[in-house]
Amino acid sequence: MQLLQIIENANLKPNIQDKIKNIFSSGSIDFNRRFLTLTEEDKENIVKISPLINQNIYFLIDRLYEHLMKFEETKNILLEKPERIEHLRNMQMGYFKELFSLKYDEDYLASRLNLGLTHLNVNIPTNLFMSSYSYLLSLLIDFIKEELPKHNFSHSEILNIINSMQKIANLDMTLVIRAYYSKEINEKERLSGDFIKRLSKIAEFRDENTGAHIERMSLYCMTTAKYLGYNHDFQMNILEASPMHDIGKISIPDYVLLKPAKLTDDEFEIMKTHTMKGFDILSNSDSEIMKLGAEIALSHHERYDGSGYPRGLKGESIPISGRICIIGDIFDALTNKRVYKSAYPIEESLGIMKNEMGRGNYFDPVIFDVFIKALDEIIAIRSRYMNF
Ligand SMILES: [Fe+2]
Ligand SMILES: [Fe+2]
Repeated sequence: MQLLQIIENANLKPNIQDKIKNIFSSGSIDFNRRFLTLTEEDKENIVKISPLINQNIYFLIDRLYEHLMKFEETKNILLEKPERIEHLRNMQMGYFKELFSLKYDEDYLASRLNLGLTHLNVNIPTNLFMSSYSYLLSLLIDFIKEELPKHNFSHSEILNIINSMQKIANLDMTLVIRAYYSKEINEKERLSGDFIKRLSKIAEFRDENTGAHIERMSLYCMTTAKYLGYNHDFQMNILEASPMHDIGKISIPDYVLLKPAKLTDDEFEIMKTHTMKGFDILSNSDSEIMKLGAEIALSHHERYDGSGYPRGLKGESIPISGRICIIGDIFDALTNKRVYKSAYPIEESLGIMKNEMGRGNYFDPVIFDVFIKALDEIIAIRSRYMNF
């Protein structure tokens, strides 16, 4: 199976997909650095033993499975679906052959990725995974120690061969373990992303009875970041962090938050505090996404000309995340119904933003222009999430 296909089938988040592609593509620096540690002598040593390994592959696999069946945990996993054993054995044989084939190319990397993901998918815990791998290595060493003297290899040659074999086995194990953990990290990230969205919806539900605003607004922010030329990581971070922009509204009393009319000055002062409350909730976290979320919560009502709140920051002193989010947030507020207003059509909304609010007053004019450039994509997102 091709590397990209395996990555696609694994149903990973885009940023994890990128990380895996990076680790498992033969062009990556990481791969070269790791595999360059194999010397010509190592390669010659592997060539010397690979026919012997291939001839005895059934014997080796049998020993491995005998060993696995000795332990309750592995035995239970294997016997849970006995029809799977034959398939696993065949796969294992393929992996064995590849390891000693010295073709450490794209296909090899793809199969290592598959190996790691398969172990995770059949719920093999890391400790079992690692200990079986170590057992496999000691099995190979014992086998070589016993067999090679029969083929007139000297003691020092045998030690050299074992050394080279340990090297490729370690490299191999590193790759497989990285595949295993990439998927685990993916699940954790998926969970935390899901958690962030649900948390943000709590504030959103009180406010507008829908979570669609944060879905659309965060996609607008990501798209704007993309058109501004920010890298994939930043685009993903702003996508995850921006839904939390109004999380501080959880602290705003209903008579202010749900008032279907213009707020009095006092009420507006209360409303303004949602930025600082949001910052309080999200700050002091080690997570990059939470840090960005805190920055956005605090700065998404700052205006380019300094007339915004809570700090009245001006121009470039407003974090870029805040300057991006204010545009997506206001565009979505204008183009949808709110308790205090009906929805405006897109053209009219953009007119209000450009002329009444002011391209360079509320907004960073450069980012505003980029948002207009991205309008086709923005409208496509809007129509996709209209009835969310
Ligand atoms: Fe807000
Ligand atoms: Fe909002």
